[in-house]
Amino acid sequence: MEHAPRSTDRPLACVVMAGGKGTRMRSTLPKVLHPIWGRSLLGWVIAAVHEAGADRIVVVVPPDAADAVAAVAGDATTVVQPDQLGTGDAVRCALPALEGFDGDVLIVSGDTPLLTAELLSDLLAAHAASGAAGTAASFRSDDPAQYGRVIRGADDTIRIVEAKDATAAELAVNEVNAGLYVFAIDALRPALAGLTSDNAQGEFYLPDVVPAIAATGRAVRAAEISDASLLLGVNTRVELAEAAQLLRYRIIEAHLLLGAGIVDPTTTYIDVSVELEPDCVVHPFTILRGSTRLASGAEAGPHSVLTDAILEPGAQAGPFAHLRAGTHLYAGARVGAFAETKNAEIGARSRIPHLSYVGDATIGEDSNIGAGNITANYDGEQKHRTIIGNRVRTGSDTVFVAPVEIGDDAVTGAGSIITHDVPAGALGIARARQVIKEHYAKRKRDA
Ligand code: UD1
Ligand code: CA
Repeated sequence: MEHAPRSTDRPLACVVMAGGKGTRMRSTLPKVLHPIWGRSLLGWVIAAVHEAGADRIVVVVPPDAADAVAAVAGDATTVVQPDQLGTGDAVRCALPALEGFDGDVLIVSGDTPLLTAELLSDLLAAHAASGAAGTAASFRSDDPAQYGRVIRGADDTIRIVEAKDATAAELAVNEVNAGLYVFAIDALRPALAGLTSDNAQGEFYLPDVVPAIAATGRAVRAAEISDASLLLGVNTRVELAEAAQLLRYRIIEAHLLLGAGIVDPTTTYIDVSVELEPDCVVHPFTILRGSTRLASGAEAGPHSVLTDAILEPGAQAGPFAHLRAGTHLYAGARVGAFAETKNAEIGARSRIPHLSYVGDATIGEDSNIGAGNITANYDGEQKHRTIIGNRVRTGSDTVFVAPVEIGDDAVTGAGSIITHDVPAGALGIARARQVIKEHYAKRKRDA
């Protein structure tokens, strides 16, 4: 993805608040690690923040999630918030990790996966343009409910009042605090140090840094965001599903605009890491996962699942194909109905048209695997490879007991259990000879 241009040369750090317990997810998995299209909730936030130009990212997590989050946080630093004392406390916990940093700090929540780099860049641009020491993103809401209210004062400065602390007049305000901010760190540090928890919830409120900064004679302003859907926060699995749906279309729309053919976006599921070249085609009811890549002219689906698979130009998988990790279809290769592949190199123009399992295998070019072929790749302890050459024709229901190798132009007889290599050009046949018992039906009847 392209990096959005930064509107200022000031260094940018980011604090991701993810210290909440996420109990409403009713899950043993920490909330911010729930996956959406191959990336965690937190991963989506970090990607947007990175793209917006943050050089240093600090993620604040609860103690029990520290190890799991650190494992996926990449070059972001994780810090533990020992007790959940509020958003102000969360950011305060992040400060030691920003020791020596001088610049702006973007503050986001770890559970808002719809944030875009564009939105963050707009916020940073508004912050830079106004020259304020702090800028809080706000939006208009018809149902402001529990959101903090943004109360605008003289000279475009603001206060933020939590709903639980607000007067009736303040509650009537429909401009609300998005929970997304940028502060000059030299204004933020002393303001955080002076926070108290003297409020309705007994918490250290991050928005209370606003009056503290104002008291030093520096301004904090609000920047109104028009598309509030980008701020959707995930607290329950209902909201997780809602966010996933929106991100699903975002991924698909980006591919469509770059020329990939996606026949039915409503039944197509594509991980964020999948690569689609222009003029590939994804048919309905298809799931593309992980590092799957479809070259131009390749087709996947309908009703297929592809994980970490590569389809070269003109390759086809489907209908009803299951391509597992490490499947590589070279140009014009085909995997058809009810076939499963794994860790398999399938050479140019080779075909596995139906009802087969091909795992830990290498198939050359222009070979045809008959219906119902199985590579018996596992002896109960180890996996072994099946190697099939070029222009091979395998009979229906061939079982390859690996390790085994079939030479170029070789043929196997239908129903064969191939336990030994078949040399190039040879026929391998391994099955009991047919026995004919004449007049069997009559004899049975007369008995
Ligand atoms: C906060 C704002 C509110 C704003 C709303 C927008 C405060 C006091 N209020 O409300 O003005 O309208 O966001 O969604 O900031 N977190 C921690 N540690 C904590 C508490 C929270 O890391 O001790 C994290 C949460 O994991 C979450 C984020 O901070 O990612 C926001 O916390 P949340 O409880 O959702 O904020 P609200 O109190 O609802
Ligand atoms: Ca709260």
